[in-house]
Amino acid sequence: MRNSKENFKKKSRTPFQINKKSFFGVMEIVLSELKNLFISKLNKEMSKEKRVLNYVLSNAQKNDPKSILEAIDECGYKKFFLMNIGDKKGQILEEYVRSSQAKNILELGVYLGYSTIRIARSMSEGAHIHSIDVNENFLEIAKKHLDFAGLAEQVSFFQGKASEVIPELNMQFDFIFIDHWKEAYLQDLKLLIKHDCLNDGAVVFADNIVLFHLEDYLDFVRTSQNFSSKFIPSLREYSSSHPDGIEISYFVK
Ligand SMILES: C[S@@+](CC[C@H](N)C(=O)[O-])C[C@H]1O[C@@H](n2cnc3c(N)ncnc32)[C@H](O)[C@@H]1O
Repeated sequence: MRNSKENFKKKSRTPFQINKKSFFGVMEIVLSELKNLFISKLNKEMSKEKRVLNYVLSNAQKNDPKSILEAIDECGYKKFFLMNIGDKKGQILEEYVRSSQAKNILELGVYLGYSTIRIARSMSEGAHIHSIDVNENFLEIAKKHLDFAGLAEQVSFFQGKASEVIPELNMQFDFIFIDHWKEAYLQDLKLLIKHDCLNDGAVVFADNIVLFHLEDYLDFVRTSQNFSSKFIPSLREYSSSHPDGIEISYFVK
């Protein structure tokens, strides 16, 4: 007879086997990124991220987060691939932030601040987000988006690798949004536990579970005594056909 861990592994892998749709979901991103890089180098254009910021500043309304998210989504749907959580999974993120009533929130992976805006506008009064990204150019744009949205005061940004920032935080969080380097999800979750950064009942919301086949992460949160975990199927950001999903795990101390 198989042991329970093996049985579990088999169960956890069922919806995430490599299939043609998610393989093409990743390939589409890679090709689109290469094409953009080639065109912008050829035309000596500014980065697509700066172009998004310019588009937001000239098409959205100041202090109106909804219009900023819509302008970014428009770029994601019509102009170039953007690695934001996107409008569909973004709504799920907001529902969980709202229902958690979290006071202290940690975000791993900021990019243009799209998810930061979604979290900030749906969190409870007096709550605060601590957002980490390794890329200073992205953080600069994210800060401008948050400032334009009128939400900058609710956010503290940290530049650096999450694995280097987490040990310095000395804080406990009620909600963690994990959306940075996919290989680092598990290692950084373990680091958060090691440094006592999770409050009892904390929600850990991890994006891109299916797209990047994050099986080690899933095996950990689904077999650990410290988590009760569930999966929400969805689609890759700005796609109507490529599968993706979110894992939501509740921490029990
Ligand atoms: C998918 S994007 C984040 C998207 C954002 N959460 C949103 O939905 O709008 C991933 C981000 O993680 C950052 N990143 C990658 N590895 C990282 C690491 N080890 N520590 C911190 N940030 C990292 C990248 O610079 C990138 O901006």
